[in-house]
Amino acid sequence: MAGLAPQRTDVDGVEGGVGLTALLVAAARAVETHRHDSLAQDAYAEHFVRAAPACAGWPVRIEQVPDGDDSPLWGRFARYFGLRTRVLDDFLLGSVRADARQVVLLGAGLDTRAFRLDWPSDLVVFEVDRAGVLAFKQRVLTDLSASPKVKRVAVPVDLRAGWVTALTRAGFDAAVPSVWLAEGLLFYLPGPAETYLIDTVDRLTAGGSALAFEAKLEKDLLAYHDSPIYTVTREEIGIDLLRLFDKGPRPDSAGDLAAKGWSTSMHTPFDFTRRLRRGPLPEPNDALEGNRWVFAHKPRP
Ligand SMILES: C[S@@+](CC[C@H](N)C(=O)[O-])C[C@H]1O[C@@H](n2cnc3c(N)ncnc32)[C@H](O)[C@@H]1O
Repeated sequence: MAGLAPQRTDVDGVEGGVGLTALLVAAARAVETHRHDSLAQDAYAEHFVRAAPACAGWPVRIEQVPDGDDSPLWGRFARYFGLRTRVLDDFLLGSVRADARQVVLLGAGLDTRAFRLDWPSDLVVFEVDRAGVLAFKQRVLTDLSASPKVKRVAVPVDLRAGWVTALTRAGFDAAVPSVWLAEGLLFYLPGPAETYLIDTVDRLTAGGSALAFEAKLEKDLLAYHDSPIYTVTREEIGIDLLRLFDKGPRPDSAGDLAAKGWSTSMHTPFDFTRRLRRGPLPEPNDALEGNRWVFAHKPRP
């Protein structure tokens, strides 16, 4: 799109930088919600998109997209986010059915799971993100008079610095089994912050706890610079994902958790496309090729 302002990476809220990626995922969830074969329903998603000047003109339904499902952004990429939402909804609900009584959403963005999923009444959901993103989210939810289905606690903090005190002050109890989620987060963090995050999750979890996270395994992220997904996201809505991703060496977080005694499994998104019969399949020059969803469980004592 011609005339887009240069991307700012230093913004704390949703109007630019990495915060704007939260709106990208919300818009994708809005599109998914309105599909006749929807994988996940999020009635709040389109309200975030409509409330943010930064995404004026973005679609919230596939019918509003001129090339519909052929759009690499609002077709294939949005469907990827719909699939990811569904798979991780299922992971969280399954972990809560098993043991967990606390949910920690790291880089929660505009995730509305506290509002839209059926949780046991004694559950607590902690939403960790930067202050500006959480403030925008609260403003929209308050305007909608939305009420969460469980106790929900916002934890405004930057995950690149120490964040344990903020979480424990917010009421997180390390003795109670928990399930953690880092969905669309780790590749924005410097490697040492990811290592700290994994070590911290291990340190703050009782047996029976679980963690799911998304990783990108590409050795060279820039190899997919001209892939349809990155190109169209950059040109149509001005989000240069490759510029936002951290380019330093990545830790082997699945390996690190296994070394700490967790059981881990690693999946491609395409595994779930085949299982649920909806979602993206591999294609040439594919920005999704290195994406993996990792599920980890800490054994009960
Ligand atoms: C792609 S969005 C994903 C949001 C949400 N997990 C979802 O899937 O809808 C990335 C989120 O990570 C958050 N994030 C990125 N870097 C962060 C940091 N250093 N500290 C806290 N949050 C961060 C952003 O603010 C944004 O909300």
